[in-house]
Order: sequence, then C-alpha cells, then structure tokens
Amino acid sequence: MTHTSRKPELLGIVGTGLMGRGIAQIAVQGGIPVILHDSRPGAGQEAREAIIATLDKLVSKGKLTTAELQAGAERLTVAAGLNDLASCTAVVEAIIEKLDAKRELFLQLEAVVADDCILATNTSSLSVTAIAAACRNPGRVAGFHFFSPVPLMKIVEVIVGPLTDSAVADELTGMAKRMGHAPVRASDTPGFIVNHAGRGYLTESLRLLGETVAPYPEIDRILRLGAGFRMGPFELLDLTGLDVSLPVMESIYEQYYQEPRFRPSPIARQRLAAGLLGRKSQRGFYRYDDGRKEEVAPPAVPPRDHLSVWLGEDDSAAYPQVVELLDRLGVERDHGKRPCPDSLCLVLPVGQDATTVAVAAGIDPTRCVALDPLFLDGCRTLMTTPVTATRYRDAAHALFAADGAAVAVIHDSPGFVSQRVVAAIVNIGCDIAQQGIATPQDIDRAVTLGLGYPLGPLALGDRLGAGTVLRILDGLFDFYRDPRYRPSPWLTRRALLGVSLLTPEN
Ligand SMILES: NC(=O)c1ccc[n+]([C@@H]2O[C@H](COP(=O)([O-])OP(=O)(O)OC[C@H]3O[C@@H](n4cnc5c(N)ncnc54)[C@H](O)[C@@H]3O)[C@@H](O)[C@H]2O)c1
Repeated sequence: MTHTSRKPELLGIVGTGLMGRGIAQIAVQGGIPVILHDSRPGAGQEAREAIIATLDKLVSKGKLTTAELQAGAERLTVAAGLNDLASCTAVVEAIIEKLDAKRELFLQLEAVVADDCILATNTSSLSVTAIAAACRNPGRVAGFHFFSPVPLMKIVEVIVGPLTDSAVADELTGMAKRMGHAPVRASDTPGFIVNHAGRGYLTESLRLLGETVAPYPEIDRILRLGAGFRMGPFELLDLTGLDVSLPVMESIYEQYYQEPRFRPSPIARQRLAAGLLGRKSQRGFYRYDDGRKEEVAPPAVPPRDHLSVWLGEDDSAAYPQVVELLDRLGVERDHGKRPCPDSLCLVLPVGQDATTVAVAAGIDPTRCVALDPLFLDGCRTLMTTPVTATRYRDAAHALFAADGAAVAVIHDSPGFVSQRVVAAIVNIGCDIAQQGIATPQDIDRAVTLGLGYPLGPLALGDRLGAGTVLRILDGLFDFYRDPRYRPSPWLTRRALLGVSLLTPEN
C-alpha cells in the first residue's frame, strides 16, 4: 500500500466520548478536517456542540481567536452513518474497549473507505495486532494512543505491530505533530510505553505498604517531597480509581506472563472489593469531602535529645554532604573509630537495610538509625532496625528536623522508600529499552509527558548514576531473593561501561 498525497485530508473519528472528543478538538485546532461518528444516535452532534463550547471557552480565556473558533467549527462535521466516512484519509476509533467491537468496526470500515485509508485505534490495553489481524489489509492498522485529557496531555504513542506498514506510522507521526502533540513510537506490546513504565511507581509503593515499611501518607510524602514526584502513589491511585488501575496492573502482569516486576499487591484487590475506589467513592486510601482530600499531618517531631552522633569513616568519606549537614545542625560528633557506649550510630545504606548494615559492621542495633544519603533534599528519610530503642529513633528524628526540614521515620527496608521506588522505575524503563519497544529518548519523553515524572526513567537513572541504581537493585535482590529486583541487562551493561542509560545499541 502506498500512502502518497491523498487530498483533501479528512480524519474520521468513531466513538465520540471522552477521548474521541479530545482527539477531534486538537485535530480541528491543528487544521485537520474531522467527521464524527458514534453508534449512539445523536452522540455525534452532542460531541460537536461540546467541542465548539470548549473552543468557545478558550476564546473567552484569550487562548483562541474568534476566527480560529469559526475555522475549527467549520472543520467539524457529523456523519449520518458509517458510509459518510468513505472519503476519509484516516479514521481513529475511540469506541468501547472491547476487542470484538473494534475488530467488527474495522471490518465495516474497510468495506467503506478507500484502500489507502489509515485505520488507527486508541486502545490502551488491547493488542493492536489482534485488532489488525481481522482486517483485509492489516498493514493500514496502527495504534494512536492518546491520554486523558487529550488537549492537555501533549503526547501520543504511535503503536506499530508486526503487520503495520511503516508509512502508516510515519503519517500518524506527522498528523500528531500537526495536532500539537509529541508523537513517540512504540512496538505493540502490553502497556506500550507509558502504561508499562508506570508499573514501577505503583507496584513498588504498594509493596512497601504491604511490608509495613511506612503508612501510605508517609510513602506519599517521601516520594513527593524527597524524590520530586508531583503526586504520591496513593494519591495517584485515589485519583485514577482502583477500579481502573487494578485491572491495568493485573492485565499487564498477566500479559507479560506473570513478570515478577509487575506483580500487583493483594492490598489493592482487597480495597477494591471493599469499594474504596478513591476520589470517585469519597474514600480510597484517603477520605474526600466534596472533592477535597483530607489532610493527614505528619508525625510530630519529638523534643531534641542531645546525644552525640557516630558516623563511620567510610560513610563520612563517601557522603561529605551528610557530614556538612550534621555540622550545620550543630550535632556533637563522636569521632571514635568505634562508637562510644551512648552514641547514636548513624549509617548510610544504599540498597541495604539498617539491620544488615548494623550486624555486618558490629554496631549495636538498638542505637542504630539509618539516613537515606541519596535523597537528602526536600525530605530526609530515617530508618530503624526492629530493635532500635525509641530514645535513639526520636533523637535522630528531632536532630534531622532541627532546621525545619521534613523528616520521615520508616521501618527497615533495603533501599528505604525513594531508592527502591526510583530503582524500580529505572529498571523497568531500562527493560523497555532493552526489549526495543521504543528508543531511549522516546521512553523518557513519553514518561515525562504521559506520567508527569520529574525526569524520564533513563535520565532519572543517570541522575543517581547507573552504578548506584545497580547497587540498589543488587541489594534488594540479595535481600529478598525475588526476581522482581533482577536488574535489566540494559542497566547492568551501561553501569559496567560507565555510560549514560540513554546510550542506544549501535
Ligand atoms: N478514558 C481514558 O482515559 C482513555 C485513555 C486512553 C485510551 N482510552 C481508550 O479510548 C477508547 C474510548 O474511551 P473513552 O473513555 O472515550 O470512552 P467513552 O465511553 O467516553 O466513549 C466511547 C464512545 O464510543 C461509542 N461507541 C461504543 N461502541 C461503538 C461502536 N461500535 N461504534 C461507534 N461508537 C461506539 C459510545 O457511544 C461512546 O460515545 C477506549 O478504547 C479506551 O480504552 C481511554
């Protein structure tokens, strides 16, 4: 099939619900004429009116001119039936998420449109290939996966299956740019890029909760303030709704043949059964009143207890920023080779827990407190062994909060909270690259735009250092003996070579 100049351009949109409307809006704003169709009588017309009302709002906000609104409205027509899509150069479907319905629709469309008309699906979770396989000409079928709300989420995944013509993907890539969206190309695999890369944040956070490392408001606070995520994982689960996120978690886990990295948590299933869906049911992890989330105050800072603090020589040399911090906080230091009998013993583990470090170094575990040396800004995370005495835990809490900084005190965990969650995200991002699902640049672009992370998984790994991420995962793997934490070959090789995680295969 050749996709030469097919004029005039006309984009058909089938399914004019939430997604179809958004796609139609950005298309007409990008100068692309659109014809709308929906199986529900009257839905196409309703969608047209809603889109024009949205454009009108943009005019009142000064974001669009009246002439642009007029031109947009003129580009937007409504089909009387599927046959009206005959002159389309491309059709995007955004109908119900059911394989049979999508296959049936594409078969019907093939009987109506020209041979070189592109058929694109906005599916999030179905196989584009399984949809294409039903078609007479599967080469014309590709995924065109937008995110909600479409006009604000300026990213679209162009999904290429083994049967997709590359010219079709090129056309969709060009169309996305004209719509003002950033296209990223991905091969047809479960979750594509964004929903695949998003597994690390949620599943590792649920795992931490399941291990009672910290209560969920504390995990949220650490990841927001300390690791720089816009929303905590439990706040995010509440926003999406467990009825939506758990099926995605389970489906990707199953589609990857029970890949341990994606193993969902029984906590989520139980909460779903309890109807604790999130914002939409007024109660998820948090309670909501009129859409407002309850405020959960962090644990109070205990009174200061002027214990002297011992920090081992190796940790002092490796983390001068921690030594500076202790000085800034006016801490009395115990400079002995071994800690004095009363000193608080501070350890700085990477990928290890406080207990393992204390026992290996012969430090009294009842006086041992660990500080996360990799995430010191925004929120300082402290971790205790199961036998750390309350006096030492509270003294460390008060000491690190003395300058008003946020401090979280958690139970023992190899890699604290941020190290673990960030390492899980980086590792999954690396494996997406290793599987050739997308280029390293597209992986990072998709994740920053699609998930709003401060950096893409590969740049996030580079910021910590590939070797450090590998050390965290090795520590987790040794401790749990769970293949969930096995490092991706992409990460291991780039760490060994000392090169950026964005380095492609040549
Ligand atoms: N909602 C999201 O956040 C989101 C994000 C990305 C992708 N998607 C995908 O986009 C698609 C649409 O999702 P949505 O949220 O817009 O759904 P929606 O329920 O808001 O809209 C679906 C529309 O399709 C129409 N429809 C159903 N079957 C049809 C058929 N056979 N022929 C013509 N019209 C039909 C319905 O009448 C409805 O108007 C799904 O495949 C979904 O997985 C959704």
